[in-house]
Amino acid sequence: MTDSALNAVQTVLTMSEEHEALVSMVRRFAKERIAPVAEEFDHSGEFPLATIKEMGRMGLMGIEVPEAYGGAGMDTLAYVLTMVEVAKADASHSTIVSVNNSLYCHALMAFGTEDQKQRFLVPVASGEKIGAYSLTEPQSGSDAATMASRAVLSEDGTHYVINGRKSWVTSGPVADLMILFTMTDASKGNKGITAFLIDASLPGLKRGKKEPKLGIRASATSEIVYEDYRVPVENVLGGVGNGFKIAMQVLDAGRIGIAAQALGIAEAAYEAALDYARTRQAFGGAIGQFQMIQQKIADMKTRIEASRLLIMNAVQAKMTAKATGGRYTTEASMAKLFASETAMFVTDEALQIHGGMGYSKEMPLERYYRDARITRIYEGTSEIQRMVIARNELGLR
Ligand code: CAA
Repeated sequence: MTDSALNAVQTVLTMSEEHEALVSMVRRFAKERIAPVAEEFDHSGEFPLATIKEMGRMGLMGIEVPEAYGGAGMDTLAYVLTMVEVAKADASHSTIVSVNNSLYCHALMAFGTEDQKQRFLVPVASGEKIGAYSLTEPQSGSDAATMASRAVLSEDGTHYVINGRKSWVTSGPVADLMILFTMTDASKGNKGITAFLIDASLPGLKRGKKEPKLGIRASATSEIVYEDYRVPVENVLGGVGNGFKIAMQVLDAGRIGIAAQALGIAEAAYEAALDYARTRQAFGGAIGQFQMIQQKIADMKTRIEASRLLIMNAVQAKMTAKATGGRYTTEASMAKLFASETAMFVTDEALQIHGGMGYSKEMPLERYYRDARITRIYEGTSEIQRMVIARNELGLR
C-alpha cells in the first residue's frame, strides 16, 4: 500500500460528545440567527457585526485557542464542523470566521511569544476584536514572495517604519488587529520577508477602498495602506526573515477552513436541489424521476462525500503534524482544491435543476453560486493548489 492509502485507512477521527454538542449549537445558531439575515447582508454588502460578535461570545472566533487565551479550547475537527454549519447558512459569515480562526489566531498560537499572545491573541480569540491576515499586494497575489512593501529598522533599533500597500485583506475595513507580511531585506528574496503584529488604530495605517465583489459580499474586503507606520520590534512575529514560511504554514491551516467552507456551500445547494427534485412537477411527475436529474444528484452527492473525506484526511494530517512536527501541506491543498471545485460544480448543477427559479434572486441558489466562486481563488487558486501538490509529489522543493 502507498503512504496515502495507509493514511486513508488510518483516518479515524471520532466525534466526541463535545463535538456533537458544538454542531447542534452552531446549527441552531446558523439557522435562527445567520440564515434569516444572509440575503439582506448579501444585498447591502454590510459587515454583519452583530452576529459576528455573538459568535465571539459563543467561542467561535477562537475555536482552537486554549481557554486561557480567550478561546474555546477545542480541536481542528471542531473548527471544520463549525465552518461547514456556518457556510451552509451564509458563506460571508464563514469567511470572517475562517480568517479570524485559522489565519490570524493560528499564526499567534504557532509563533507568538507569551507577551504577543496576551496583547494580540486574547482579544481576537475571545471575539472582542477582529483579526486580519495581510499578505497579498496589488502586483502580487499567487506569487506571494514578490513584495513591494517595505519595513525599515529605525536607527536606534527600537521600531520599524512600514510603507506600502496590501490588497484583498479580508475584514480589512473593520479589523482591529492584523498580521502583516512585508519585506525587511529585499536582497534576500523570500527570506527577507518578516511578519509583524499590527494595531490598526495607530497612525500611518489607512483603510483603502472596499472591494465590490461578486460573492461573499458581506465579508468586507479592502486595501490597507501603510504610510510611515511605526511598529515596535516587540511586534515581530516568529523572527526577522521568517515571514514567508510563517505565511505558508498558516495558509496550510487556512486552506482546510476554506475547504470546509466550500463543503458547507455545496451542501446547502445540494439539499435545496434534492428537495426541488422531489417536489417540482414536470411531464406528469416529480423531476427527480428523470435520469438526467438523477445523474446530477448522484454526481453532486459523490463529490460532496469525496470532499468531506479529503477534508477529514487533512484534519487528521494536521493533528498528526501537531504531535510530530511534520507538515500537512499536500493534504490541505488537496482538500481545498477538490472541495472548492466541487462547490462550483454542485452550485451550478443545483441552479440548473431549479431552472429559472434558481437564477432568480427570490431563491438563495444564485447566492450560493456567486459565493462558491471565491473558494477557487482565495487562500491560493486551484492552479496554485495543483502546483503545490505536484511539486510535493515530485520532490521538487
Ligand atoms: N510550510 C512551510 N514552509 C513552506 C511551505 C509550507 N506550506 N511552503 C513553502 N515553504 C517554504 C519552502 O520549503 C521554501 O523554504 P526553503 O527556501 O528553506 O527551501 C520556501 O518556503 C519557499 O518556498 P517555494 O520555493 O515553494 O516558494 P515560491 O515562491 O515558489 O511560492 C507558492 C510557493 C506555493 C506558489 C506560494 O507563493 C503560494 O502559496 N502562493 C499563493 C499565495 C496565497 O495563497 N495567497 C492567498 C492570500 S490570503 C487570502 O486569500 C486573503 C484572505 O484574507 C483570506
